[in-house]
Amino acid sequence: MNTQLLEPRDLDRAAEIIRSGGLVGIPTETVYGLGADGLNPVAVRSIFQAKGRPQDNPLILHIADATWLERYCEDIPETAWRLAKRFWPGPLTMILKCKRRTPEDLEELKRGPVCSMTHFGPRVVPDVVTAGLDTVGMRCPAHSICRAVIKAAGRPIAAPSGNLSGRPSPTTARHMLDDMDGRVDAILDGGDCQVGVESTIVDLTCTPPRLLRPGGVPLEELWDVLDDIEVDDAVIRPLEEGEKPKAPGMKYRHYAPRAPVTVIMGDCLRSAEYILEHISDNYWDGVICFNEYAHWFQEHPVEQLGGARDSWEQARRLFRALRAMDEAGVKRIWAQCPDTSGMGLAVVNRLSKAAGFHIIQV
Ligand code: TXA
Ligand code: MG
Repeated sequence: MNTQLLEPRDLDRAAEIIRSGGLVGIPTETVYGLGADGLNPVAVRSIFQAKGRPQDNPLILHIADATWLERYCEDIPETAWRLAKRFWPGPLTMILKCKRRTPEDLEELKRGPVCSMTHFGPRVVPDVVTAGLDTVGMRCPAHSICRAVIKAAGRPIAAPSGNLSGRPSPTTARHMLDDMDGRVDAILDGGDCQVGVESTIVDLTCTPPRLLRPGGVPLEELWDVLDDIEVDDAVIRPLEEGEKPKAPGMKYRHYAPRAPVTVIMGDCLRSAEYILEHISDNYWDGVICFNEYAHWFQEHPVEQLGGARDSWEQARRLFRALRAMDEAGVKRIWAQCPDTSGMGLAVVNRLSKAAGFHIIQV
């Protein structure tokens, strides 16, 4: 397959590929997504193949605005509308109850080819999108080109992050091409992603709502809208053997560059000192650190994560830094890590997972 690189002015072409069952890399404000027609089970199945993604890991459905929610969800709680009003379009995914097909709808499916029932399932969103769950992740992205493609396609776009399974998510069209060249029909270049980590996922099918994945909307801002919210255990600690996370994707090794990562947590001066004390003096140890300490590690491949106190910038640069370490060919990565306030929680979560929870507290 020859992967076309499209520009924003080609967005109608991107929509046409989606409508005809193809795969398109789409820009969003968080990370690039690997999009297909979310109502076409065959197209969605090819997402899993292209990524090498396990089938039990459901996909997020991207919509053009909040009015689309009622097409795909039922029993929508009032909190969902409040969250949508405050954060959409934007980096928030809500887990909601997926709408069941009406009896008429089911009759029509039964009249179709025999495979269509098993293909489409009992709910309006095909089972292959939701991994057969009775819930669905809904998101309205802030990237205007992305929403324009959804509108032009006239259907919701199912999209995981556009990386090969297990690799850091792509935050530029080039990074997506590095992983997906020859595996997708096209990639629409919408520039560098402004958030840099994936959306915040909140499950609204339980009481109180539950944060399943920290992301582009900080937890503190959710508190402004919700009276109560619980943070899922999988956000900050490794899962025990046999434990099942609420977001199936949280159980997989994630965001990982090829070299093993050691994360140093705690006071930033102390963490920089720790790295300096433990790093071997050859080129093969790379460092991801706050800008203030980059000059300490001049003999090594260094990626600056952003200012020590700027967790937004750190989030924006994190995946790029992990990929750059791969490109430098390092054998070991040392990484400084912010505290969990604001966007720090998403950065800590991604770094911890990249490190397989190999974390040193100083
Ligand atoms: O920012 C984002 O969310 C990006 C862009 C492309 O929109 N997408 C993204 O998708 O990060 P993905 O597939 O890489 O991560 C989606 C996560 C997975 O951990 C998955 O298990 C979880 O969302 N998820 C999806 N549907 C779910 C559901 N119904 N219940 C629980 N978790 C769900
Ligand atoms: Mg992903």
